[in-house]
Amino acid sequence: MANKILECPKMKQYLDVIDNMYRLGWDERNGGNISVLVDPEEEKEYLDGGRQYIRDIPLPLVADPIVRDRVFFFTGTGRYFRNTKADPEHNIGVIRISEDGKVAHVIWGFEPNGQFTSEIYAHLMCHATRMKVHPQNHVIMHSHPTNLLIMSHLMKADDKEFTLALWRAMTECIVVYPEGVGVLPWMLCGTNEIGVATAKKMEQYRCVIWGLHGIYGAGDDLDEAFGLIETIEKSAQIWLACQGKKELYTISNDELVQLVHRFGLEKQCAWNFLDRKPE
Ligand code: 13P
Ligand code: ZN
Repeated sequence: MANKILECPKMKQYLDVIDNMYRLGWDERNGGNISVLVDPEEEKEYLDGGRQYIRDIPLPLVADPIVRDRVFFFTGTGRYFRNTKADPEHNIGVIRISEDGKVAHVIWGFEPNGQFTSEIYAHLMCHATRMKVHPQNHVIMHSHPTNLLIMSHLMKADDKEFTLALWRAMTECIVVYPEGVGVLPWMLCGTNEIGVATAKKMEQYRCVIWGLHGIYGAGDDLDEAFGLIETIEKSAQIWLACQGKKELYTISNDELVQLVHRFGLEKQCAWNFLDRKPE
């Protein structure tokens, strides 16, 4: 192996997170995919500069200039999260997006003939959107969490309705995602259209729910993206357990506003979901 990528702390965490997501039951078979931007210092230290390529794979889209000449970890299409930690070279890869945005140069992995996830559209477009609104955003994570999926069978695909139901399920939810969540109705996955729609929502939200399919989470690092998704999944579980029961108590709008002030989230809060003007 020409580089030391498996010694990179970010790679170790990537493999641990993938393993963890499988064990949580969110990523059956090949379900889910994760991409992580690599820092130039990591390219130098762990990838020998990251400019020696095993092969090229054409991209099905022309990548936004902001992600060109940048290096990413990507999970492989059709690969199982269950197998990844024990055999990273066959299940994930490291690519550099070409300077014209049309090709992925494979630096490492995807052995022997694999390639990046079929959700490459959503990943590259969401990275581009998030890097423009928040340059430290380096992770895009897609998963199929069980309770959230059930919730999307029971609730219409509406940002406000979903956000309020999730915020009211557990006190600290509004603290973790004060901007709320975006929701898309069922759409064909692995397409340019779902990529465009997801990236559009990511201008406003770090989390976008794909109705009847799963979730996209964005974050500065793996902890943040994972933490967002696990908090939403837990809220969905609580919401679900309350369905059909006589709910005696719930968190009111006034109490949600108290939380916003308590945690200084006035700027981030989706006040319109609380039917209030920004305070
Ligand atoms: P890939 O195996 O291509 O990553 O697809 C899995 C998935 O979850 C599609 O939405
Ligand atoms: Zn999926």
